[in-house]
Amino acid sequence: MEGMCPMKDSVLETYKDSALQTYKNGSENGDYSSIGRKSKTSSSGLAWKDLWVTVKSKGQRSRVVLQGLTGCAEQGKILAVMGPSGSGKSTLLDALAGRLGRHARMTGEISPLNGSNKKGLSSGRSIAYVTQDDTLIGTLTVRETIMYSANLRLSGGPTSKKKIELVEKAILEMGLGESANTPVGNWHLRGLSGGEKRRLSIALEILTRPELLFLDEPTSGLDSASAFFVIATLRRLARDGGQTLIASIHQPSSEVFALFDSLCLISNGRTVYFGDRTLAEQHFSDAGYPCPPRRNPSDHYLCAINSDFDKVKSSFSTDLESSYPIEQISSTEMTNILVEAYSLSNFAHAARLRADEMLAQQQQQKRCRAKTSNASSAGFFSQTLALTRRSFVNMRRDMGYYWLRLAIYIMLTLCIGTIYFKVGTSYQAIMARASCMSYITGFLTFMSIGGFPSFVEDMKVFSREHLNGHYGVLPFVLANFLSSLPFLALISIVSGSICYFMVELHPGFSHFAYFIMSLLTCLCVVESLMMAVASLVPNFLMGIITGAGIQGIFMLVAGFFRLPNDMPKPMWRYPMSFLSFHMYALQGMYQNDFLGVNFQSTTLPGPSIPGRFILKNMYQIDLSRSKWWDLFVLIAMVVGYRLLFVVMIKLSEVIPKHLSSASPASLMRLKSSYAESEAEGKRQPCSPTSSSCRSSSPTSSSSSSPPWPVIPFAVSSQSSSSPGPNAPLTSSSSVSSASGSPSLLKNLFLQALELFRGTKTAVILRSQICTKPTSPTSTINSSASSLFLLRNSSLNALP
Ligand SMILES: Nc1ncnc2c1ncn2[C@@H]1O[C@H](COP(=O)(O)OP(=O)(O)OP(=O)(O)O)[C@@H](O)[C@H]1O
Ligand SMILES: [Mg+2]
Repeated sequence: MEGMCPMKDSVLETYKDSALQTYKNGSENGDYSSIGRKSKTSSSGLAWKDLWVTVKSKGQRSRVVLQGLTGCAEQGKILAVMGPSGSGKSTLLDALAGRLGRHARMTGEISPLNGSNKKGLSSGRSIAYVTQDDTLIGTLTVRETIMYSANLRLSGGPTSKKKIELVEKAILEMGLGESANTPVGNWHLRGLSGGEKRRLSIALEILTRPELLFLDEPTSGLDSASAFFVIATLRRLARDGGQTLIASIHQPSSEVFALFDSLCLISNGRTVYFGDRTLAEQHFSDAGYPCPPRRNPSDHYLCAINSDFDKVKSSFSTDLESSYPIEQISSTEMTNILVEAYSLSNFAHAARLRADEMLAQQQQQKRCRAKTSNASSAGFFSQTLALTRRSFVNMRRDMGYYWLRLAIYIMLTLCIGTIYFKVGTSYQAIMARASCMSYITGFLTFMSIGGFPSFVEDMKVFSREHLNGHYGVLPFVLANFLSSLPFLALISIVSGSICYFMVELHPGFSHFAYFIMSLLTCLCVVESLMMAVASLVPNFLMGIITGAGIQGIFMLVAGFFRLPNDMPKPMWRYPMSFLSFHMYALQGMYQNDFLGVNFQSTTLPGPSIPGRFILKNMYQIDLSRSKWWDLFVLIAMVVGYRLLFVVMIKLSEVIPKHLSSASPASLMRLKSSYAESEAEGKRQPCSPTSSSCRSSSPTSSSSSSPPWPVIPFAVSSQSSSSPGPNAPLTSSSSVSSASGSPSLLKNLFLQALELFRGTKTAVILRSQICTKPTSPTSTINSSASSLFLLRNSSLNALP
């Protein structure tokens, strides 16, 4: 390549100078300020370079979601990420925040925050992420939600004056004063409106003033005035606190749009524009699509690049067509032109230069110092305490968590009590007692599965807070256990007592206590098992099915439906029956009830049958093992399943991170998978393997130099039959096509200009349409910078 373009180095220097000069000028005029001013002093912010993301769904080919995005978010500024639905906004935010799912692969560079390491980026102490969905605890009020969040993250007691002040400030800033005491709302409680929930989600994350704040659609569901105040507050936070804010946004009003400093416009994962928000208009008009006067620029940009409805557009009635602002060309073509124009513009080059600069700066800082964070944090015990309190309040207020279960348990145990009422010690009572206990340990505990949907809701809140680094997994597991214990104890005591006294099981307080403890431990095991299931299957329907399946198998091998020694040894006896908590529960309860009781024989009067004999010979119980040992195993299972949950969560954190950072080899696979999907016609015409997209492909962009001097070049003309910038083009003729040096490109261009001088002509440069010649403002000099100017979409100003 070097050999092919001897002028490359000098051209590049001129190109870079030109780009930087443009930034400096812009900076003086208030433009490009986000890039120019901070460049020497700012060390924070976030930069990313050549960011490619592919996703792979089960049974489907890889799909490229982000295509070589480069940009940066400056400290003290707010960056808007805009684009049509499905363009990759959330994916970009996820990639930057290190939150891509396990099916996503990512390549490219992302700067660490304030010299922190990768762990620091996702540790949440200095970054926060407001996701597109609001995951809140429905039973808590606005004030309680924020207060608990403050207790979880800030040091100092729950009544700390500073904390209360911070909470009240966050409520005020998000305009939630009126609804501060309104519950969030859930399935049985009508609470906050969608917009209020959105503002509450933001309030929770701005509470600790994170250094970097990601907001996915912070204004969805808000009216234009609320949206304005929310973004204005965020902007003030960024300005005052030196925070870096990145927000994806849909259709902002012109007032809201004007609050953003920089704009990242993406379509189908490609950059349509990145740079100062105020200069986007220039980019669009340079590419031939100026924003009409008195039109919201953001509406214009989104109309231009939304290609989802191209087919629908063609079927519109005349009425609708005339009301659609941009109708002369399909949005797909328009997007391709804008993407192409951007890739060749000095906006792209300057973004790359600034990203390079920030990446280098922050790498330097990473070496020099450890992560800094001004966010104070609550300790392990205060976090566990705050979480336990919050969880307890939620469980108490949520009807579906335990109260409904208590009612069902009372009803069921009344049924058991009446069916086995005063069961006695007759010969028939032997079977009746065994069945009763089998039902209690199997089916009664099985009912605890009903709390799974509520637990899944808790898990969603945990996922959000844990990802934002509010607390670790251990405080959550402990708090969940501690807060649920009083409810489970209540259920066990109430329903166990009904059962125990109505059936008249083995009398004596120690027997009663064992019975209640055994029931309570079984409920705890089921809760813990379902917790472990939730870590694997976080969907409540799938989770219930999985949990029910596991318990069904465990019940079968407990030793009631098939006696222990009669079970097939491999698999069912060993290890399945020993993994089944039902086996330990059943054997413990059998011992608790049968030992010390004599049953009547079949023939009256005859010798009585001791309970020990029945257990040993009829139910094949190993009496060398005490009932307390069975209880101990059950308690160990509670701990084991909860530890399993911790391990699964930890693993799920490690695995996606490992997978999401792709190696150079996977970079090549990424390219080829993209080429394959393009060949199948799944993507837009621009691809990293086609000449028109090479400037943004991972291969070409791995070099810091702009790729344009060696890109195949084509100049053609299309004649216009009628005047006007959007006049239809009726004929075309190709002039030349070559791959070569800047001087060759310049000659070709001059040739084209000469040919089309004085005609109503559009010049197409690498598929870009430049509208007919208008004013003679630009001259072609022999310097390389002039060529750069031409390529920098000044083509509509040809002489
Ligand atoms: N894990 C995934 N598996 C399959 N497809 C995915 C995955 N993640 C993202 N995508 C796809 O990537 C594209 C971009 O998704 P993304 O959520 O980033 O869009 P968006 O711009 O945020 O859209 P919206 O404005 O509607 O929120 C979508 O077409 C989506 O289906
Ligand atoms: Mg989204």
